[in-house]
Amino acid sequence: MSIAVTGATGRLGRDTIEALLRRGVPASQIIATGRDIEKIKGLADRGVTVRQADFADPESLASAFDGAQKLLLVSTTTPSERIDNHRRAIDAAKAAGVSHLVYTSSANAESARMILAEAHRETERYLRASTIPFTILRNGWYLENYTTQLSLYQQHGSIPGAAGDGRLNAATIADYAEAAAIVLTMDGHVGAVYELGGDEAFTLTELAAKVSAATGQDIVYADLPASEYATMLIGVGVPEDIAQALADADLGLSRGELLTDTGDLRRLLGRPTITPAAALTAAIAE
Ligand SMILES: NC(=O)c1ccc[n+]([C@@H]2O[C@H](COP(=O)([O-])OP(=O)(O)OC[C@H]3O[C@@H](n4cnc5c(N)ncnc54)[C@H](OP(=O)(O)O)[C@@H]3O)[C@@H](O)[C@H]2O)c1
Repeated sequence: MSIAVTGATGRLGRDTIEALLRRGVPASQIIATGRDIEKIKGLADRGVTVRQADFADPESLASAFDGAQKLLLVSTTTPSERIDNHRRAIDAAKAAGVSHLVYTSSANAESARMILAEAHRETERYLRASTIPFTILRNGWYLENYTTQLSLYQQHGSIPGAAGDGRLNAATIADYAEAAAIVLTMDGHVGAVYELGGDEAFTLTELAAKVSAATGQDIVYADLPASEYATMLIGVGVPEDIAQALADADLGLSRGELLTDTGDLRRLLGRPTITPAAALTAAIAE
């Protein structure tokens, strides 16, 4: 039973492969794919099959998915190219005879109005129409979206955003990855759509209080109009399309589009999710 993972050169794909190995999947049954496979030479040394795949290049997808029975399709990064990229990957998976495709979508993809949800909604539609047996993992926001910015928060004494009093329940990439590995290795998940998020919901004001407690420094949440927040992100080097999408996502956050109360992640993991406080402590220790 071969399991192929796309985005294995990135954080979620890489963590999923580690979770598969921890769960006892033999390295020889895992196919790790990405564009820049230099980044994962270490996996090849551990016996994982490493194959180059660019979603813009259908031939590379056909070679990468050859012999795979299961596929984790990690959504690609460039927002404007996502839909075409994902359609090509689903077509290649079908041609390769993949019998279970697990797609990492986004929270509330069916109803969310934020720009980032559009490509996920269309990918889910295309996947259902493909007739490949599927599972959809609607991953909520990553706690890492915040924990990786700690030094900036400390430098400015604030967390900037445009989310108002909106609540979200973010989880760590490691928790989402473990859930993906569970779905890829256990029976009973075909046809399921899971809304995944952490156990603990919070506003960004509450997050600022947690950051203050973890760092011992007073950090406040600075709520900005979305256009100002996008300009600020561009000012610190975020590409314009990503900055606009992130500011728009904060507006979605304010409307509750990054909040799920299904408990799906906790149930899949069979344990509580990693808390924001624990994730902050771990990030500080690093
Ligand atoms: N839910 C959230 O809060 C959240 C936060 C951040 C990101 N995301 C999205 O979730 C997905 C996975 O997150 P992540 O943290 O693992 O992202 P990441 O570390 O940036 O990894 C993205 C992966 O996608 C691959 N990729 C991008 N375009 C590709 C293409 N055209 N063909 C083949 N591979 C391509 C990259 O390959 P190379 O490195 O080899 O180019 C990389 O392996 C991304 O789409 C990301 O935008 C979600």
